Amino acid sequence: MRAHSSHHLPSSLVLIGAGNMGSAMLEGWLKVGINRATTTVLDPHPSLEVQTLCAEERIALNPPVRDIRPPQAVVLATKPQALEAVAPAVDRLIGPETLLVSILAGKRIEDLKRAIPRAKAVVRAMPNLAAAVRLSATAAAASEAVTEPQRLIAHELLSSIGQVEWVGHERLIDAVTAVSGSGPAYFFYLTECLAHAGTAAGLPTELAERLARATIIGAGELLRQGDLPPAKLRHNVTSPGGTTAAALDVLMREPGLRELIREAVDAAKRRAEELSG
Ligand SMILES: NC(=O)c1ccc[n+]([C@@H]2O[C@H](COP(=O)([O-])OP(=O)(O)OC[C@H]3O[C@@H](n4cnc5c(N)ncnc54)[C@H](OP(=O)(O)O)[C@@H]3O)[C@@H](O)[C@H]2O)c1
Repeated sequence: MRAHSSHHLPSSLVLIGAGNMGSAMLEGWLKVGINRATTTVLDPHPSLEVQTLCAEERIALNPPVRDIRPPQAVVLATKPQALEAVAPAVDRLIGPETLLVSILAGKRIEDLKRAIPRAKAVVRAMPNLAAAVRLSATAAAASEAVTEPQRLIAHELLSSIGQVEWVGHERLIDAVTAVSGSGPAYFFYLTECLAHAGTAAGLPTELAERLARATIIGAGELLRQGDLPPAKLRHNVTSPGGTTAAALDVLMREPGLRELIREAVDAAKRRAEELSG
């Protein structure tokens, strides 16, 4: 279960990049009571929503970097391609006690430290698309210099967009990317497949699409609300000799869906390894 107390919010914070992910995090931090007076947002082209939010909440937006004192935490949420361009400004913000949290896909802790030499305590996180609805499955890895209080701060900051899981070693982030980073698309595709199958079974296309969509949402909600493992939920709805059993006999034959998904995750993991060099 996700630990969600606001005890570990940083005393001061700079967010760099307030796009989809950055603004979702900012909204979450405001909900759990971040100190507005010591929060700063840097983004060269902030959206109207971000401008309005910062004005309403009295959060500093784009002050000169030289005027910002090194905060307790810097959260880097630009696109990965922007790292080289943004690195000098980030470096100026890093003090001896500053934690850097990066969500840049494919940028390893080593890449971040090379680009931002003053950064020693670095957390690399991999969120997913569901951050937009605060249901991200986020995994994080910490550099050796990250202290336990800093890890708790990173946990708190990342919890604003969903569930946070820590991995013992950064190399596991490629597997994380293949499972939860790319994962939402697998379930979107599964929804498309179910709708197609419904149409093939005689349903009007739009009805099949609505049913498939509502079904995956309902199944997801059952997983979210209960503590039962997915296999138990599946057993509970599978009467011997019934309709669900007939379908699962097809899905579970070998090689079947399990093998296909293993191959898909393996392909994504290899690609993640290639992309992060
Ligand atoms: N979206 C996802 O599902 C997802 C999943 C996993 C990881 N991530 C990671 O999350 C990060 C952010 O993704 P996103 O979807 O939020 O991207 P995004 O919407 O493009 O947000 C990035 C923001 O950073 C701003 N920016 C660019 N250069 C900057 C600079 N020098 N200083 C400060 N801000 C700057 C951009 O402004 P402009 O638009 O004006 O360039 C934009 O507002 C990426 O690194 C991505 O790898 C995203």
